[in-house]
Amino acid sequence: MANGLEGMCYAAPDCPPGPVERDCYGAGMTLPTLMSLLTRSAEFLLSKGIANGRREAEWIFAESLQLTRLDLYTRFDMPLEDDQVARLRGLVTRRGRREPLAYVLGTQEFHGLRLRVGPGVLVPRPETEELVDHVVQALPAGAVRVFDIGTGSGAIALAVKRARADCTVEAVDVSAEALAIARANAVALELDVAFRQAHLATGAVGPYAAVVANLPYIGSDERGDCDPELAFEPAEALFSGQDGLPLIAELIAAAPPLLSPGGLLWLEHGWKQGAAIMALCAPMRLDCTIIPDLAGRERFARISHMAAP
Ligand SMILES: C[S@@+](CC[C@H](N)C(=O)[O-])C[C@H]1O[C@@H](n2cnc3c(N)ncnc32)[C@H](O)[C@@H]1O
Repeated sequence: MANGLEGMCYAAPDCPPGPVERDCYGAGMTLPTLMSLLTRSAEFLLSKGIANGRREAEWIFAESLQLTRLDLYTRFDMPLEDDQVARLRGLVTRRGRREPLAYVLGTQEFHGLRLRVGPGVLVPRPETEELVDHVVQALPAGAVRVFDIGTGSGAIALAVKRARADCTVEAVDVSAEALAIARANAVALELDVAFRQAHLATGAVGPYAAVVANLPYIGSDERGDCDPELAFEPAEALFSGQDGLPLIAELIAAAPPLLSPGGLLWLEHGWKQGAAIMALCAPMRLDCTIIPDLAGRERFARISHMAAP
């Protein structure tokens, strides 16, 4: 080979399309160094439309090789063994197919917690960390009760419990797969949250100081606009009806008996749904304030009993 890429390739004959497949890493070739393989992997991810290709490749390498991202640069000339190359190649290939990075890594940082995630559960998003901040800041003092509906990986429930160990936290999800992951996260993090399988608030006995729900809120109308990564996440975690509102509407209708006096229902919602959510609250005698996220988009609803006239 005279293309300057000698020893850099990690591809086998079935390697993914893209720059990586042009060369072969096989018998008689020198083992690739960490940095040469990292560079090729970053180029491959960029060619697959992943804008942060370099950074994501670094995360994959750091996680797989049990190194920090800084280590990757101090050990740039470290030769990689066959088994390391094969493992890295598998992970980079998955990400190149636009599987979410968190699934490829198997974990996601959320509100200072390292959560296990994988197919079957939504990858917790940064905006939801903001929702947790709002919930925790508004919680009254004392051993009050908090209820997380549609818990997924347990992200909200576990973050609230960590912030307020004195509170009793319950969480539900319809998905048995999600609950298994949430329970495993609770055990790993040694956080005491009561998880159970239920549709919305079915079987819940209020009152709660806070009910929190990041329910599916994408309408089937919007499916075509979604990032390719969303195809890997469970549809029942993302989509609800044509306009994204049926589950939110059902929960708002069920909310009044769940909330203690002064209790709050917190919802995460789509950035165009604020007005519709306010309209759903009024007939239930619920006050609703829509709160923007850090990017300035209307993303959270803070709902409470209307003050008596
Ligand atoms: C958008 S995900 C949020 C997951 C997690 N709370 C988070 O913020 O990362 C929505 C979750 O609601 C669950 N879900 C969907 N329909 C539900 C229902 N009818 N009752 C309870 N949970 C439901 C899904 O399984 C999914 O885990």
